[in-house]
Amino acid sequence: MALRYIVQDGDPILKKVCRPVTKFDDRLATLLDDMKETLADANGYGLAGPQVGVMRRVFISIDERDIPEGQEDTAPLKFIEFVNPEILEESDEMVTLYEGCLSFPGRNGEIARPKWVKARAFDRYGNPFEIEAEGMLARCICHESNHLDGITIMDLATHFYEDDEEEEN
Ligand code: NI
Repeated sequence: MALRYIVQDGDPILKKVCRPVTKFDDRLATLLDDMKETLADANGYGLAGPQVGVMRRVFISIDERDIPEGQEDTAPLKFIEFVNPEILEESDEMVTLYEGCLSFPGRNGEIARPKWVKARAFDRYGNPFEIEAEGMLARCICHESNHLDGITIMDLATHFYEDDEEEEN
């Protein structure tokens, strides 16, 4: 495994639409393993292919689903891999929160996301799966799916605050 460079604000890669993964091979496995290491190192929650310069429809998220409440900081890290993901359904009910992105460090954008989503994707071996998610994971699935279409928090946020600023009202 190896750390990969995380593409930063201003790089046109972040605005491009990614192509589907067509080969579920060792190269994909290496990419996913590297992305996990990179995400853990950056202390993030999700990471998409284009953020490491790979223009393919793939992202990962932290998986906290089986961790008892309050133990998120000490439990071993688990991940969910999404290859060629598709959001199938989403709730009408929206939740508005500030969210960040590893490609825009220090910036937090206020974005309304569906409270609940149902998505379909493939794992690294090409097996399809479906997942229903709420809370942070639902937000992450939406955020990372947007990355695959060249859409970032800079396009979606109605308001920003910087990490070193007091939140404005
Ligand atoms: Ni992001």
